[in-house]
Amino acid sequence: MVDSIEYDMIICGSGLAGLRAAIAAAKKGPRLRIGIVSKLQVMRSHSVSAEGGTAAVIMEDEGDTVESHIYDTVKGSDFLADQDVAEKLCVEMPGEIRKLEHWGMPWSRRDDGRIDQRNFGGYSFPRATYASDKVGFFEMQTLYDTCQKHENIEYLNEWFATSIIHDGRRFMGITAIEMSTGAFYVIKAGAMIIATGGAGRLYSFSTYALSSTPDGLDMGLRAGMALKDMEFVQFHPTGILPSGILITEGARGEGAYLLNSNGERFMKRYAQGKMELAPRDIVSRSIMTEIREGRGFKHETGVDCMKLDLRHIGDEKIKEKLGGIREISIKFSGIDPAKDLLDIRPVCHYMMGGLHTDIYGTTEIQGVWAAGEAACNSVHGSNRLGANSTSECLVWGRITGELAAEYAMEKKPQGPWPHHMVSAEEKRIYDGIFRGNGHENPYEIRQQLTDTMNEKAYVYRNGEDLAEGLRRVRELKSKAWRHVDDGAKEYNTNFLNVMELDSMFRVAEIVLLGALNRKESRGAHARTDYARRDDENFLHHTLAYYDPGEPIMKTHPVTITRYKPVERKY
Ligand code: FUM
Repeated sequence: MVDSIEYDMIICGSGLAGLRAAIAAAKKGPRLRIGIVSKLQVMRSHSVSAEGGTAAVIMEDEGDTVESHIYDTVKGSDFLADQDVAEKLCVEMPGEIRKLEHWGMPWSRRDDGRIDQRNFGGYSFPRATYASDKVGFFEMQTLYDTCQKHENIEYLNEWFATSIIHDGRRFMGITAIEMSTGAFYVIKAGAMIIATGGAGRLYSFSTYALSSTPDGLDMGLRAGMALKDMEFVQFHPTGILPSGILITEGARGEGAYLLNSNGERFMKRYAQGKMELAPRDIVSRSIMTEIREGRGFKHETGVDCMKLDLRHIGDEKIKEKLGGIREISIKFSGIDPAKDLLDIRPVCHYMMGGLHTDIYGTTEIQGVWAAGEAACNSVHGSNRLGANSTSECLVWGRITGELAAEYAMEKKPQGPWPHHMVSAEEKRIYDGIFRGNGHENPYEIRQQLTDTMNEKAYVYRNGEDLAEGLRRVRELKSKAWRHVDDGAKEYNTNFLNVMELDSMFRVAEIVLLGALNRKESRGAHARTDYARRDDENFLHHTLAYYDPGEPIMKTHPVTITRYKPVERKY
């Protein structure tokens, strides 16, 4: 018999969306027992590494408008955003900035004392609110601190959630492994929010924490939810070599240039109006075009790259506003950005896709919501603007937190407990993985999988590469890597790594299939064999459902309210 514990509601994931949801739920239902289940410790969540900004309109007296934020978001999305959702983001965000301010967020300020904002890619007004270049760290600290004021929030740190238990329609609980003891548990709860973040470690060159694997997405997928728009993977233009750590867009917001091997600011050829502050999909493509046409550089590791020049910003301002990336450049690449050029290259940074939800974060299982990068409420369409991600976490953290709390207060789980689902999950992970046989090294397989994604589904794609990528991923999946050599119960990271790999295969396949099926170029999905956007045939979202054979692919309409799709020009 599996031990079980009970909460009124649980939140899976302890990043920005998860913590914001916990605060909203605790306020809405002060008597609810709320559990935050995370495979990490709270302040190790990937949100901590967000650098450059959180977008919101707070300078209306200086000319900014919510309408302009909405349009920039929709245009940035290459018109695949659901426009009602983009509107919700932009309308709600100013309140979130003030709320964080009241909770103690140390926003960077101007000399007159007002909260400052900096420029970011694709915006018509500088509206990235920031705290030096450590926005995620300070936001997480502020939210975690605020969580401490609510005694009804409990932390199940270093618990690895493995599956969702439901009665075919309604949520009933999850299964999870307590990593410190290795014990397998059932956690019964009335409602759940999935806020497990993105899955950018599907790629080997990535800005994400090593923990950013698709376990949360896969848990929803196996429970019957669709993954939406997974083919849209964002490549941030400036991952520093050789590590891939993020050099914030805030650097270009503060005036940094991109230079090719002729010493030219080449962005003038691709986005004369916005130059280095064009949206990320455009800047990343421009870098790769320059490299392909022979105007790139070779890094000492042999990788093609471009140069980022911050020298004219000056040492003092770099230290004040970009202190984090200065330290990263010095420590991880041996370069002081006040003195030398940085070697950068587009790097996997964000997934526009995620668990299919409506505008309120409602998923296809009653009693389950999703928020933050794990969710795809379609706010970003096919390309997210920088600084809109931390905003999304705050807005939908609050919305889903309140809705899940209301649901947990009103509806109590009923009906017989589905013991067969728990037994099936035990069998899947203990017989299928922990006690699995095999001779292939799962770490090597993981490396090959992520290298394949990097090679075959990068900034520019084509049908041949995507098909070859899919073939390789399926071949790797079929190899004998499902085994765990470490028999320990406590903190068995070998076991967790193989479990993560298992989820990576299902989600990687969906990324590739979605990309192969989408025979057009839109936002971050740029196909050299279908170079134009095709609204007639592809102005829709992609849905992928789990099937033990291969994913079932469907489409879903885009909500267009006020902005007719037009060609994007910057
Ligand atoms: O460049 C950055 O600081 C990234 C911000 C974002 O992805 O929103």
